[in-house]
Amino acid sequence: MTVHLINQTTQERLHIQQKLLQERCDSLLNLLDISGHDVSIVLLDDAGIARYNSKFRHKKGPTNVLSFPATDLYEELPKELASSQLGDILISVETARREAEKKSCSLHQRISELIIHGLLHLLGYDHEQSTREALIMWEKEQVLIKQLTNSRSKTMPHLAINVDHVATVRQARGTTEPDPVHAAAICELAGAEGIVIHLREDRRHIQDRDVYLLRKTVKTKLNLEMAAAKEIIDIALDVKPDMITLVPEKRQELTTEGGLDVVANEKKIKKTINKMSKAGIPVSIFIDPDPTQIKASLEVGATFVELHTGRYCDARNGEEQNKEFRLIERSAELAFESGLLVNAGHGLDYRTTSQIAALPTIDELSIGHAIITRAVYVGLDQAVREMRDCILMAG
Ligand code: PXP
Repeated sequence: MTVHLINQTTQERLHIQQKLLQERCDSLLNLLDISGHDVSIVLLDDAGIARYNSKFRHKKGPTNVLSFPATDLYEELPKELASSQLGDILISVETARREAEKKSCSLHQRISELIIHGLLHLLGYDHEQSTREALIMWEKEQVLIKQLTNSRSKTMPHLAINVDHVATVRQARGTTEPDPVHAAAICELAGAEGIVIHLREDRRHIQDRDVYLLRKTVKTKLNLEMAAAKEIIDIALDVKPDMITLVPEKRQELTTEGGLDVVANEKKIKKTINKMSKAGIPVSIFIDPDPTQIKASLEVGATFVELHTGRYCDARNGEEQNKEFRLIERSAELAFESGLLVNAGHGLDYRTTSQIAALPTIDELSIGHAIITRAVYVGLDQAVREMRDCILMAG
């Protein structure tokens, strides 16, 4: 069976990740075990679906989903061709977005639910027939939603390890050991897919020498965290890391405390991104999971955002943690839908990482303190492998 996903929405703000939806449709068709048929899924805006609603159902205004079985639409087609057509499903992305907001789920999750609803109609289920039929259809929908969630064969996020704390121990003694350059190599050998370092203006841990050496030795990907400060920008342009992450920096803080306020620092950030773009260095911005900051990050030209997971990790009870998680989930989806690549990090440990790693829109996790702390007890190689297991288990 083939799914034809046709996007006829006219408004740019209805950001749709067609690839993601196509993948979910393919999984659904496998789950339903239907082969040899075609189905078309047409994404519309409210005005578009209202026209079909009026023409075919004589109802005014938009609705969320309409399905038209091929038996109605393809009466004139030759029998062999008609029998391979299951039908068309029409979905209003605008209505789906409103429903997603009400249900506190992501837009793509809601669209997937509507596709399931439409598909079941095409297969003969009809909740309008009787209460019994409605219950049968509802139960089938719930099973498919669950199976679809479980079957998401997403690629797991990459693990990027922040080795700042190795340098912190070295600086505490003012000697040459332990060396973050050695630590980075061990991390990579144990399976890290990236190395992160923060060159702070006060040089409290990572030193210029580390940055230049790591540029030469890191085999995976070097992500330089930094403030948008002239001196550090010049070093970044000279070193050319694989990417940079812009973070706020206060002298008094123990670690990066909150996300960067992109709205308030728009001019400075835009200027920095322009310089990096000219040098071919992609830029990520470390932000709180907040739609305003996501929109601003897109507008200043960021390639990535890194969503701050600190409040989720520091939550004092399950309810608070759940609330913070939902915020990250929705922000990740919003950023992804807008065309940004999404990383996440800060405060993640062996207990909190899996849930974030399971989010299908996250590209990379940046983790430092928990791994370096555990390495003191079990060794760096094992600490990295255990964190990789946390990520892999999430799949
Ligand atoms: N991401 C950013 C932007 C950070 O500043 C830090 C801390 O250096 C991290 C991730 C990693 O946080 P943690 O050390 O708590 O894992």
